[in-house]
Amino acid sequence: MQAADRLGNVHEYYFSAKLEEIRRMNAAGADVLNLGIGSPDLPPSPKVKAALSEEASKDDTHAYQSYKGVPELRAAITDYYDRTYKVNLNPETEVLPLLGSKEGVSHISMAFLNPGDEVLIPDPGYPTYAVVTQLAGAKPTVYTLDAENDWGIDWDQLNNMDLSKVKIMWVNYPNMPTGSKGSMELFEEIVAFGRQHNILICHDNPYSRILNDEPLSMLAVLGAKDVVLELNSLSKSHNMAGWRLGWVSGSEEHIDTVLRYKSNIDSGMFLPVQRGGIAALEEGEDWFEQLNSEYRTRKDLVCQMLDDLGCSYSPEQAGLFIWARIGDGQESSEIFCDTILQEAKVFLAPGTIFGKNGEGYVRVSLCNSPKVLIKAGQRISEYARITIG
Ligand SMILES: Cc1ncc(COP(=O)(O)O)c(C=O)c1O
Repeated sequence: MQAADRLGNVHEYYFSAKLEEIRRMNAAGADVLNLGIGSPDLPPSPKVKAALSEEASKDDTHAYQSYKGVPELRAAITDYYDRTYKVNLNPETEVLPLLGSKEGVSHISMAFLNPGDEVLIPDPGYPTYAVVTQLAGAKPTVYTLDAENDWGIDWDQLNNMDLSKVKIMWVNYPNMPTGSKGSMELFEEIVAFGRQHNILICHDNPYSRILNDEPLSMLAVLGAKDVVLELNSLSKSHNMAGWRLGWVSGSEEHIDTVLRYKSNIDSGMFLPVQRGGIAALEEGEDWFEQLNSEYRTRKDLVCQMLDDLGCSYSPEQAGLFIWARIGDGQESSEIFCDTILQEAKVFLAPGTIFGKNGEGYVRVSLCNSPKVLIKAGQRISEYARITIG
């Protein structure tokens, strides 16, 4: 049976093919250390796990759930937004729980885009934005994040584009893969741009609590709700990637539009997951202090590894990765990473997965224990001694 035309340009996610290669190498005895993937290896807090298992052991928690989640989850999300970002949201109308924020990228695209519409996609950026745009029948139009300007937006390029067909712009700060934190000034410029050109700004914000002292929400910009939908998630902030718990916030009108689509796709979120999510959202600042202290230790180990490889990087990055420029004289990011994979049995993600502006960069994940990172560091240091000298 032939696949649908809409899958024509959609290929297997880079990582699934690479993971298969790594699996084959491991089957042959290689013991590859995977520093490519950003799935937190640490557990959620004990309170969160207890809330999940307690609810799951009851007899009356297994039915379909409301498409909008239980009111207590929505209230916990809006309290968290208030405490964390000083953003006031109405829990009845301005927030919608999602099965992870990735599905939100898809729901927003399906809910707002028509064939012929264009969508602004950051390069480098999360590959899902472009793929889902295509699946919705619209056209991804790439805009440049400027390496010389801490991966901020190249406004000259953007303002010279024909924006007449653009309906959505994807934005993501703290940025994946570059680790750039963004700023309130940048968010104000983006909101003004959206307003001026009648573009729905979709801000993807899952990394704001990782290695970042000043968590920001674009919804804190005055009047932002008119033009901004913001995705957020417990995957990274609370080590709950496998739980699939995220949400989208914005105006009642925009949220209703997403809900019209979403309510025809899934049948609500497992109630024990919602109860665990509430417990996570109630965690105090000590949770983030502990989490970030661990990531700082890991970051130091990864930076040492990158130093050994002759890479350069900004020390100020937020999020679960370190984004680094490979040394001059390297042929390409992919060849650099493939060689390290074959020679040192350590997998790093080549920057080109995230767009052509990722050429010349690698992304290293912090989602491995210090023990694994030390072992990877030893292999890399030995590899670097032989090849770089
Ligand atoms: C930029 C970005 N957005 C969204 C997601 C998806 O996160 P979630 O687990 O909430 O679906 C990821 C996950 O890697 C990501 O890197």
